[in-house]
Amino acid sequence: MKTFGTPLSPHATKVMLLGSGELGKEVLIALQRLGVETIAVDRYENAPGQQVAHHARTITMSDPAQLKALIEKERPHLVVPEIEAIATPMLEELEAAGVVRVIPTARAARLTMDREGIRRLAAETLGLPTSPYVFCDSLAELQSAIDGKIGYPCIVKPVMSSSGKGQSKIAGPADVSAAWDHAMAGGRVSHGRVIVEGFIDFDYEITLLTVRAVGASGQVETQFCEPIGHVQVSGDYVESWQPQPMRPAGLQKSRDIAQAVTDNLGGQGLFGVELFVKGDEVWFSEVSPRPHDTGMVTMCTQWQNEFELHARAILGLPVNTALKSPGASAVIYGGVDAQGIVFDGVAEALGVPNTDIRLFGKPESFVKRRMGVALAFDADVELARSRAKQAAALVRPRVAD
Ligand SMILES: Nc1ncnc2c1ncn2[C@@H]1O[C@H](COP(=O)(O)OP(=O)(O)O)[C@@H](O)[C@H]1O
Ligand SMILES: [Mg+2]
Repeated sequence: MKTFGTPLSPHATKVMLLGSGELGKEVLIALQRLGVETIAVDRYENAPGQQVAHHARTITMSDPAQLKALIEKERPHLVVPEIEAIATPMLEELEAAGVVRVIPTARAARLTMDREGIRRLAAETLGLPTSPYVFCDSLAELQSAIDGKIGYPCIVKPVMSSSGKGQSKIAGPADVSAAWDHAMAGGRVSHGRVIVEGFIDFDYEITLLTVRAVGASGQVETQFCEPIGHVQVSGDYVESWQPQPMRPAGLQKSRDIAQAVTDNLGGQGLFGVELFVKGDEVWFSEVSPRPHDTGMVTMCTQWQNEFELHARAILGLPVNTALKSPGASAVIYGGVDAQGIVFDGVAEALGVPNTDIRLFGKPESFVKRRMGVALAFDADVELARSRAKQAAALVRPRVAD
């Protein structure tokens, strides 16, 4: 983008977010600050990002006809996928026809919406180290993949799912059929394909935020943020911190893997590359071609957080990935199934030194739905982690009286 327009005028620079959850909301805020006109799309009304955008649109994003009609009507300069469940072949068609530019590319959105596309690219095309894996379409195939190649323990996941949905760890033969049933119930679309992966007994796992942005040379250059460490419970993130201390060899391998994957996916923007680390060994796990949930910690640790980095990178602006302070994030769960809940304890939470919170404004709460996040910075990561957890625990969501 060479020239920036005025929002809500004929020369506005327009960006459409496909998915407007808590991550999209922060990207939208970053775009607004640069004077961009924003269109927040989601599958339900009053999604977090729709509450802060110029325009809110509610459609079924996995329906190619609805997606095409909306993009052709709004004519944004950029389309920014924030979730995986999108009719990505239609995005490829519209991109190829020159109707719109997709971030980072329509191909990247297609390959990463499905565990099979990105895993085969990483392991088979790029030759990167990953867990051993097999794709299966039935319980019988799953059992024979475990017996023949994968062994126990292993992990089963629907090929189309996120945030740990439908995922389970199999310790031995007795768990196989329950894991299959759980995957069938938890997949995003009802086609019964799963990936079974050998369990990697890692020391820790990281998200390496990797930015492809136009540099001083005028070409797209790759920059890395400090590694983010995190804890996942049942495949869902509960806590993250930055920087995760790493030995130089592991850090270099992590960057090499992230560079190889993001070079191949191409385009401009920020990527969340998930890696497992044991000693100096590193395995590629998966990648989001967009801001990552564990990267919310950067709202208190970096000069430019991951959302600002994404906004700048996609608009062709320079980025700065430098760390400002060590820090941590801790998730605030809904704890109840209800609409329009209220939160007690916000003042107490913010009374914990060096903390901040985000309440996402989701209209409906579920027991395990992420409704907010607590952030803390401090001189060291351990202190920040304990303060973030303390602040998160002080926020008490409940059903309104
Ligand atoms: N092969 C594996 N070995 C060990 N742990 C794993 C493996 N695959 C996934 N996990 C754990 O489960 C988490 C979620 O898995 P992931 O593939 O990232 O699914 P999602 O797309 O839902 O984030 C990972 O962050 C990691 O903690
Ligand atoms: Mg993941």
